[in-house]
Amino acid sequence: MMLPRLARQVRIARRFAVARVTGGRLPLSVAFMLTHRCNFRCAHCQIPGTCTDEMSAGEFCGAINELAAAGMTRASFSGGEALLRSDTAQIVAHAKSLGLFTSLNSNGWLAQERLGELAGSLDMVVFSLDGSAEAHDASRSQPGSHARVLAAICKARSLGIAVATITLVQPDCLSVIDDVLQIAGDLGFWPYFQPIQENCFERRAGIRTGPDDGWLRDLADRLLRARRDGLPVGNSSAWLKLLASGKSQGGCAGCAAGRFTATVLPDGTLVPCHMTLGDRAWPNGRRLGFAKAFDEMPKPLPTGGCTISPNRETTLLLSLKPTSVLAALRHLRPPPGRGG
Ligand SMILES: C[S@@+](CC[C@H](N)C(=O)[O-])C[C@H]1O[C@@H](n2cnc3c(N)ncnc32)[C@H](O)[C@@H]1O
Ligand code: SF4
Repeated sequence: MMLPRLARQVRIARRFAVARVTGGRLPLSVAFMLTHRCNFRCAHCQIPGTCTDEMSAGEFCGAINELAAAGMTRASFSGGEALLRSDTAQIVAHAKSLGLFTSLNSNGWLAQERLGELAGSLDMVVFSLDGSAEAHDASRSQPGSHARVLAAICKARSLGIAVATITLVQPDCLSVIDDVLQIAGDLGFWPYFQPIQENCFERRAGIRTGPDDGWLRDLADRLLRARRDGLPVGNSSAWLKLLASGKSQGGCAGCAAGRFTATVLPDGTLVPCHMTLGDRAWPNGRRLGFAKAFDEMPKPLPTGGCTISPNRETTLLLSLKPTSVLAALRHLRPPPGRGG
């Protein structure tokens, strides 16, 4: 089993090297939006208003087969709230059975009851954690959600699932950074910070950054200082420096989205990333086949800027920037936390 997997990794690494030189495409990392339904109504998020038809578990597994044959090494699952589906564990287990790295984003509300089914097939869970109990419950419009997400972090760790968090940072509440770093230090996980993006996931609007350059620079400087002070900031220094310089707010031209990464929407539509929808026709894997749909995806439209941290970090990683590669390797293990 090990040898065929290693041989596959070597083949994909070769294809990646060729694609980098020739400007080709390879679906290395694909995000599967299992549903746009959500049990929360966070004020900053438009996803629950964009519900569409959802593929069955069999259709998602078929998409995973096709994209794995085309070179996928990582399958991430998100939504909406992916744990609302009763067949999420089945889909994740299928991805794992093909030897893929698997991750799942969740608001954590259903984690106590649903995480056990994912043990053994889910490599990493990324919970949204928006600060102290007061700040988090307000951001998520859900009293009690902070307590649930902390319990979910402990549960995931007890099941052997690696944990990271992502924190939405808004101009009027920078203090969430210190609160989350304190929790991360106590429990021992890598927290990522995400500046709020205007009209994120609003299908017709395309991408626009929210806050102005000065505020983004202050945010980046604050996180870089925290990193230098030895605090467990998950964002790489490479991305934070880009954020501070304003360059990460450029268009989508150099982004890995659409070239080495893609997003499969609940109805089988393929888009470069969840944010680059715009008002245009995107290929659908159910009709075309998923590998073909990936190849036929149009490039993202020019945008007013993107500060989406996971996409920018992946782009830096795939450009083989040493600090990003080192940060990614370092983050495979939890930081030394007071909680162990
Ligand atoms: C869309 S949610 C899906 C997964 C899950 N429901 C959750 O909340 O973690 C994924 C991430 O997108 C973030 N997000 C939502 N709206 C955003 C916005 N306007 N700007 C930046 N990030 C946003 C959320 O905070 C969350 O961390
Ligand atoms: S951020 Fe996540 S939990 Fe909040 S409404 Fe959007 S999808 Fe739901």
